Order: sequence, then C-alpha cells, then structure tokens
Amino acid sequence: MTILLLGSGGREHALAWKMVQSPLCQKLFVAPGNAGTDAIATNVDVSPTDFGEIKKLVIAEKIDMVVVGPEDPLVLGIYDFFLDDDYLNKIPVIGPSKLGAKLEGSKEFAKEFLLKHRIPTAAYHSFTKETLENGFHYLEKMKAPYVLKADGLAAGKGVLILNDLDEAKFELSNMLLNEKFGIASSKVVIEEFLNGIELSCFVLTDGKNYKVLPTAKDYKRIGEGDTGLNTGGMAAVSPVPFATPELLEKIENRIIKPTINGLNQDKITYKGFVFIGLIIVENDPYVIEYNVRMGDPETEVVIPRLKTDLVALFKAVAEEKLDEIILEIDERAATTIMIVSGGYPENYEKGKVISGIENVSDSIVFHAGTKSENGQVVSNGGRVLAVTSFGTDFQEAIKKSYQNINKLHFDTMYFRKDIGFDL
Ligand code: AMP
Ligand code: GLY
Repeated sequence: MTILLLGSGGREHALAWKMVQSPLCQKLFVAPGNAGTDAIATNVDVSPTDFGEIKKLVIAEKIDMVVVGPEDPLVLGIYDFFLDDDYLNKIPVIGPSKLGAKLEGSKEFAKEFLLKHRIPTAAYHSFTKETLENGFHYLEKMKAPYVLKADGLAAGKGVLILNDLDEAKFELSNMLLNEKFGIASSKVVIEEFLNGIELSCFVLTDGKNYKVLPTAKDYKRIGEGDTGLNTGGMAAVSPVPFATPELLEKIENRIIKPTINGLNQDKITYKGFVFIGLIIVENDPYVIEYNVRMGDPETEVVIPRLKTDLVALFKAVAEEKLDEIILEIDERAATTIMIVSGGYPENYEKGKVISGIENVSDSIVFHAGTKSENGQVVSNGGRVLAVTSFGTDFQEAIKKSYQNINKLHFDTMYFRKDIGFDL
C-alpha cells in the first residue's frame, strides 16, 4: 500500500516509524512531516488542511489510504471531503467524520453526547454572550475552583481554572464578549471542578468494534512540580501505574462501551482513534474531554508499546474487521521526555542546529518541531524532540531517557527533570 500521513509532530513521527515497519506499507508520504519523517518516508510540502492540494497529491501518487494525525483536518471535515468525491471515496481515511470530530471540535456537543449516553462527566451548563447574566448566576451557585471551557478548538489553551469568583466572572465576559479565544469562545461551557487524578485512555474503532490501547499520562505544565504555563505536553508515561485492572474494567464498561454504542446509536461515522481524557475521583472515572486523534506526546509511548502491525490495524479499521485482530502489547513501560525550545510555550527561537542524535542507541528519538536544512537537523517549533525509552518499570525507562538526553544538544534546549515525581 501507498499511504499518506498528515501532520508534522512527534505523534506523526511515531506513527510513521511504526507504519514503515509493516510489510503492508510499500511507500509512505508525510505531509508536511519533519526531519524525523524525512529520514524514513517522503515528506511533501502540503498543509493537512489544504484539501485541494491533498486531493492532487492522492491522485498523483496513487495513495491507497490516508491517516490523519492532528485534529484540524478532521474538524474541518476531511473524512466527508473524501466521501463526497467520486475519485477519493474509494480511499479510506483513518479518522472520524466531520460530525464525529465535533466530539473534540465542540465541548458543548461532547457534553450533550456524554449526557445523552449516560457517560459519567462533570455537571455543566453552556452560555453565549446573550446569556452572560445567567452565566454569572450559575457561577455564583458553584463552589471554587471554577472551570471555564471555550466551546471550540483553541490549540489546547481554551480551558481556564480559576479560584476566585470575580476573576471567573471577568474571564467569562472576556471569553464571550471579547472573544478571548476568538470564535472558539463565542460559547463557553462552565463545568463542575473534579478533584482527582488524570489518566488518558486511547481507543481505536472501526465504528462497530474497538481495541483499547495502552493507557498513558502526560505532563502538561512547563515547570517542574507541575507548575507554570500549560503546554502541549512535556513528557508521557505508559502504562499509568495507578491504572489497576479494576479501574480499567470500570473505564471500559462505563466509558468506552457506551461511547462506541453512542456513536452507533447517533449514526456518527467514526473510523479512527478516540482519546478519552479522564479524571479519577475516588476510584471512579469521569470524562473531561474527548479528542478525535492520538495525543502528543502520548503517541510516543503508546505506539512503541504496540507489537501489532499498525497498518494491519488501520486496514482492519477501514474494512470494519477490527474484531479479527488480536492486539499485542509490550509489557515493558515506556516513557518519553520532550525537549523544547527555551521560552516555549511563549516566544522562542527556531533554526538552532541539533547535534548528537546519532549517539543515541538505546532510546528512540522522535522528532517534533524539526526540519532538515543543508544536511543538518534544525529546530523548527516549540516542542523539538521526544526521547522515548523502555524499562522494566517507568523509573528505569525515565533514567534511560535522561541519560540519552545528555548526548543531545541545541542552543536554548529545555526539558523537565522531574518526570515521574508524582507516581
Ligand atoms: P481539557 O482541554 O478539557 O483537557 O482541559 C485541560 C485541563 O484542565 C485538563 O487536563 C484538566 O487538568 C483540567 N480540567 C478540565 N476539566 C476539568 C474539570 N471538570 N475538573 C478539574 N479539572 C479539569
Ligand atoms: N498531550 C495532550 C494532547 O495531545 O492533547
């Protein structure tokens, strides 16, 4: 098969790394990719949201399957774009339909889905600028901390957690009246605060059948001890040590099964990954969000633990035969540590020459924001490299990642040195 993968992060390098190991994958294109995918596949300078250019590429290169990494093309409806086109409709797209992608594209849609299918989640209400006063009253009836969520996509920045009522009211007005997060915050979901520990679970579905992938936990804050600004994710660990078989069973019965059944019941076409963000309160799981793609950097630990052929899995998704595949998971723990550009997640510089990658032997260096330039690898984003290692437990895996990070260098590089402190 000739496959096209859309995206350019560490997630996409990890997916590409796994796909090229499959005997089913004759040729892999990545649009636009990074220096990591450049070394193992063919990068094409096409944006994942430029459907017209993607169509040209698919025709020119006789692509047999499209795998979508990030959420934007899914929320914009790439699945439906292919389905509605006479030539493209024979080519499977791994990802949900536009309606399915609303689970990530609209917090309100996700909350309505959760409620309708009786899936445990935090109590909520949504407001627009016309109902701002009602929003204030709703906040007054709640207890701190206050959770405000922009309805639409806001690059992971649309959630505010505030301790002070006046501040919560101020931010609610700011989101609704001043479009703090642009059009994404023209509607705001106010949610009950759940006090517990976070866990992410990943499911691959063909719409009828599903496979539960390994659990993972990411570290969102830039600073050690989980302090400072939120980022896309600074590290990840899989499996999550506190995810006991009893808890996993609850998650499967109370969350995963009703989610897949709900998609069916609502006639939502969904052939792809579902990433379910959970908070565990007194041993009971609650959904805080759906994402319609894999997590980044969670992919960099989940996919390396997958022993099963990923392309065979995608083919089974396309053919609705996921029930015929047996999932094999590496028992070892995997961890990944992100190396970022100094200043991230605020302003940072690009174009720094990266050295030492060739000296790393017992970890996998996944590229995120990198590009090839004059035979060198240079930084090209906030998150630059993800160093993944295996170990008999997460401590051993983390140690190996840190040892190998010492062999890597670029000007301004930064990473958290405390990963695993909370486990
Ligand atoms: P989200 O973008 O929905 O994942 O939210 C970002 C972060 O906000 C999550 O990773 C949680 O740490 C936190 N969060 C979201 N919803 C809640 C909630 N209802 N209670 C407590 N924390 C929350
Ligand atoms: N690491 C969190 C995410 O991919 O959304």
